[in-house]
Amino acid sequence: MKEYTSESLREMYLSFFEKRGHKVIPSASLIPENDPTVLFTTAGMHPLVPYLLGEKHPAGKRLTDVQKCVRTGDIDDVGDERHCTFFEMLGNWSLGDYFKKEMIPWSYEFLTGAEYLHIPSDKLAVTVFAGDETAPRDDETAELWEKAGIKKESIYFMPRENNWWGPAGLTGPCGTDTEMFVIRKPKCSPTCNPDCSCGAFLEIWNDVFMRFNKTAEGKFEELKQKNVDTGMGLERALCVLNGKSSVYETDLFENAIAKIEELTGRK
Ligand code: GLY
Repeated sequence: MKEYTSESLREMYLSFFEKRGHKVIPSASLIPENDPTVLFTTAGMHPLVPYLLGEKHPAGKRLTDVQKCVRTGDIDDVGDERHCTFFEMLGNWSLGDYFKKEMIPWSYEFLTGAEYLHIPSDKLAVTVFAGDETAPRDDETAELWEKAGIKKESIYFMPRENNWWGPAGLTGPCGTDTEMFVIRKPKCSPTCNPDCSCGAFLEIWNDVFMRFNKTAEGKFEELKQKNVDTGMGLERALCVLNGKSSVYETDLFENAIAKIEELTGRK
């Protein structure tokens, strides 16, 4: 099995998207500059909100980055094997440029390609938006996944609670998403699906198709451009790729744990 380090995974991700016309941009501050509705940068999209809304980004329409994030919405889960308060998000961005038909094949290629993550296709499952009053069922994305190589029975249609992403604060860009899961062990029951907490499915990446703006009145207006925002949690991806059971077993925590062991004299 190939061994990944945090450094090699960051580089692999950025160079994959650089080769596909993306400019690498640095991580923005954890203190959001453009959003007074939150205290911290909670997602890769946060610093890019003005550009998702249509302002021209100086680096162009295709960007890639590793954004540092603090997320507290799921703080009750922090301390389990896969949730962190602070984490790094590998991301790529289409600011009114490419959309689903480019992004899904790229996602499949990065996940399964021998020179990239090399995850066997039968170990992958995806979820797709099931449709509601704001946006229809996303059959296009499901068809693109199937065409790329995901088995039909591994494509799950899920409601808004699972497959809608954003805004990062109270208002702003948002949209339906498709989420990618690694199947880590057999399903716990015939009805087990990526939403089950048994641990059979672990999400490692999502592609958000951001074409709405949520207003202060709670309305969803069509944006003037269609964006893509993808996010792969570095800690989780490393854990899965190296066959570890917990994010704390990655090199990102190694030095801190060694120091704590030294200070406390305990393993
Ligand atoms: N790409 C959205 C997120 O997970 O932050």
